[in-house]
Amino acid sequence: MRRSVITGTGSHLPEKVMTNDDLAKIVDTSDEWIRTRTGIRRRHVAAEGETTSDLATRAAERALSAAGRTPADIDTVLVATTTPDYTFPATACVVQDKLGVPAGAMAFDLQAVCSGFIYGLSVADSLIRAGQAERVLLIGAETLTRLLDWTDRSTCVLFGDGAGAVVLEAAEGTGAVSDRGVLHTVARAEGRHRELLFTDGGPSTTGTVGKLRMQGREVFRHAVNRIAEAMREVMDAAGVAAEDIDLFVPHQANVRILEATAKKLGIAPEKVMLTIEEQGNTSAASIPLALDAAVRRGRARQGDLLLLEAMGGGFTWGASLLRL
Ligand code: UT7
Repeated sequence: MRRSVITGTGSHLPEKVMTNDDLAKIVDTSDEWIRTRTGIRRRHVAAEGETTSDLATRAAERALSAAGRTPADIDTVLVATTTPDYTFPATACVVQDKLGVPAGAMAFDLQAVCSGFIYGLSVADSLIRAGQAERVLLIGAETLTRLLDWTDRSTCVLFGDGAGAVVLEAAEGTGAVSDRGVLHTVARAEGRHRELLFTDGGPSTTGTVGKLRMQGREVFRHAVNRIAEAMREVMDAAGVAAEDIDLFVPHQANVRILEATAKKLGIAPEKVMLTIEEQGNTSAASIPLALDAAVRRGRARQGDLLLLEAMGGGFTWGASLLRL
């Protein structure tokens, strides 16, 4: 059977860093509160004029180089983002042009907020397995700080900017769990909770971009349950147990959510990939950023079994099991 194998990863973070102490000068907060409630110490913030497509393009260049591919090898560019350069055209089209992916490739954005990379994996894997794509550049990229209300301490301390990318290529597998590639992905939504995490604007409502609003405690409560459900579902579908997982690469929303989820599923703490301390919550970029860090630091190697998960606005959530 056809499988979608990750052949290269890459990432890029903006140069500018904002620490918790920097934030304490703007809003009534403290390094201690942010660290103990979220695990975040600092986050990267895009410079003026630095756009989501800029970050995405840099991450994609690194992923292509790691895969030993050139832009001409790519037939699909998929960007998961909530902070596109423009309402339209898609950021993926801007990235296609900046990278030099030839005309005729498919290029589109996918909007599932923090679950964008999991949704993107589901779509990219389906395109590859259906024979509609051979080599997909899947990017999660955000300039989420542009959506923040810098007077709202309950949200502005949580998020950061960045981009991560993977090259997914069609390969022949046996259908067994020992195959390299995406083994099983679930992507779910429940729109009735959309007012717990949203932006208070949009093209067809206010005609503005809006600012991010979140009822954090409520989101937290749903997140732990939904994420655990999705993780169990993909593990059961593939017939693997918690001890088979080599590395857990979660969306980095809150270290307390990640530790609680890993504990619930019986995943050992040393198998949890954490980047939140240095990056904050980068929404759709956080999983590919963590994945690239894991690969480059030697924590994830070819043949390893990885479990990915995310939960975000919508609500959307999902999980993916893959062998690197
Ligand atoms: O990526 C998409 C999915 N997002 C998530 O999964 C986020 C889920 N939620 C969370 O991670 C947590 O709910 C937060 C980190 C957002 C908040 O932590 P919490 O432990 O749930 O705090 P809380 O919202 O219950 O607020 C506790 C207190 C409140 O004060 P009172 O009412 O107890 O006096 C807040 O006003 O902390 C206060 N507070 C702050 N204090 C200092 C809220 N934000 C801050 C702040 N600094 N930045």
